[in-house]
Amino acid sequence: MSQDTSVEETFNNSHVLDPAATQDSQESITQQINDIAATTSGETQPRLNYPPYKSSVFRHPTKNMHHTDPETIELWSPAFGHRDVHTLESDLTIQGNGEPIGERIKVRGRVLDGDGRPVRGQLVEIWQANAAGRYVHKRDQHPAPLDPNFAGVGRTITGDDGSYEFTTIKPAPYPWKNHHNAWRPAHIHFSLFGTDFTQRMITQMYFPGDPLFALDPIYQGITDQKARDRLVGTYDHSVTSHEWNTGYTFDIVLTGSNRTWMEDEEGDH
Ligand SMILES: [Fe+2]
Repeated sequence: MSQDTSVEETFNNSHVLDPAATQDSQESITQQINDIAATTSGETQPRLNYPPYKSSVFRHPTKNMHHTDPETIELWSPAFGHRDVHTLESDLTIQGNGEPIGERIKVRGRVLDGDGRPVRGQLVEIWQANAAGRYVHKRDQHPAPLDPNFAGVGRTITGDDGSYEFTTIKPAPYPWKNHHNAWRPAHIHFSLFGTDFTQRMITQMYFPGDPLFALDPIYQGITDQKARDRLVGTYDHSVTSHEWNTGYTFDIVLTGSNRTWMEDEEGDH
């Protein structure tokens, strides 16, 4: 499944960092963010080369793109896996022997194309840290507890109206090695395949009002505020359930000028 690969990529990024670079202060990174923001506007997708986000510099393509045979690509692209997607896979709180710790949430939304039409039968995968900000992955060894009842991965298929819904635990912020005292805002990773494998989209959903937004070079790597806003889920009391969960909505637009920011497939944190 693709989330396994992507979680691997999440932590593999750390090895390409110059150790000295990780000693940059938050003040230095924030200054770089602000300097770039002062000279740009209206960029709705992240720059491939965005120096405050250290590993972006090492990871973006340095050679010209080549056209290739799409059928060949599809032979090497992600597939649905060997078994059908079960409805229970959209509930990340029932995968262990007991209840995971943390704030139980539902995240509900629709997957739309650029004309607002629902994208039906779409595979939507998510992966995330637990309520303490820890991933279940050997490369995440920072001193926060794992939760034996929370693996942090789920998937579902969109309905006829393009809708999806996950039940999960609200993730916490976590530290990463971009610079000294670097912390990511709380987020859930999303992967969608679009209408064919070559359209795969990977993005992140954030939570409203996170104080780390201004400090985060991945969130700030998109300079257009409206595009950033589209990455933030909306608290929705109609998705909240009595004595059970709080609720958020997060729609994803695959194409067009209002499309959700899409990161390249090598990246994420
Ligand atoms: Fe992450």
